[in-house]
Amino acid sequence: MNTIIIYATKYGSTEKCASILAKNLDGSVDIHNLKMNNDIDLSKYDKVIIGSSIYIGQIRKEVKEFCENNLNELKNKKTGFYICCMHEGAEALSQIDNNFPKELLSNAIAKEHFGGEFSFDKMNFIEKFTVKMVSKKDDKKKPIDGKKNISNLSEGRIKKFAQLMNNSGKKNI
Ligand SMILES: Cc1cc2nc3c(=O)[nH]c(=O)nc-3n(C[C@H](O)[C@H](O)[C@H](O)COP(=O)(O)O)c2cc1C
Repeated sequence: MNTIIIYATKYGSTEKCASILAKNLDGSVDIHNLKMNNDIDLSKYDKVIIGSSIYIGQIRKEVKEFCENNLNELKNKKTGFYICCMHEGAEALSQIDNNFPKELLSNAIAKEHFGGEFSFDKMNFIEKFTVKMVSKKDDKKKPIDGKKNISNLSEGRIKKFAQLMNNSGKKNI
């Protein structure tokens, strides 16, 4: 079974998740960053996993366009969708439902949020400011100072996702 993980990232979290995921998947796995190009021969793959980070509620433009432009081919693959984001639980999952095409999600083997990272050392002033302001509004969480990088990627959820994708290739006995 050939698998490809197609992703877009701004600061690298989604790419990190793609590498961890690839190590946990059976068979041959290719990884493709949509920033390089979006010219992918999907006919070579049985399984297609698509990953994106979330900014202001939205997946990366490259991922949105890739899904729209390859909708029919993707409908006939075993697919999985993941996001990297800082929301958790139902709020995070709703960001998946709001962004990827419904006709792909309804057929997906796996969909999950893998957690996220705030890399303040890489962010510009406006991004830092936005993150600090949003965190101040949420009185359930500790305010963020915008200095120390934060990482809460979930290797456990990545492994569960990989297991679902691996099991989907096996025949029922
Ligand atoms: C300006 C800004 C806006 C963000 N907006 C959201 C958001 O709407 N929802 C969310 O869950 N996470 C949000 N995040 C968190 C990112 O999704 C998280 O940092 C993710 O790990 C980035 O992944 P990447 O490095 O692959 O781009 C935001 C982060 C920044 C810097």
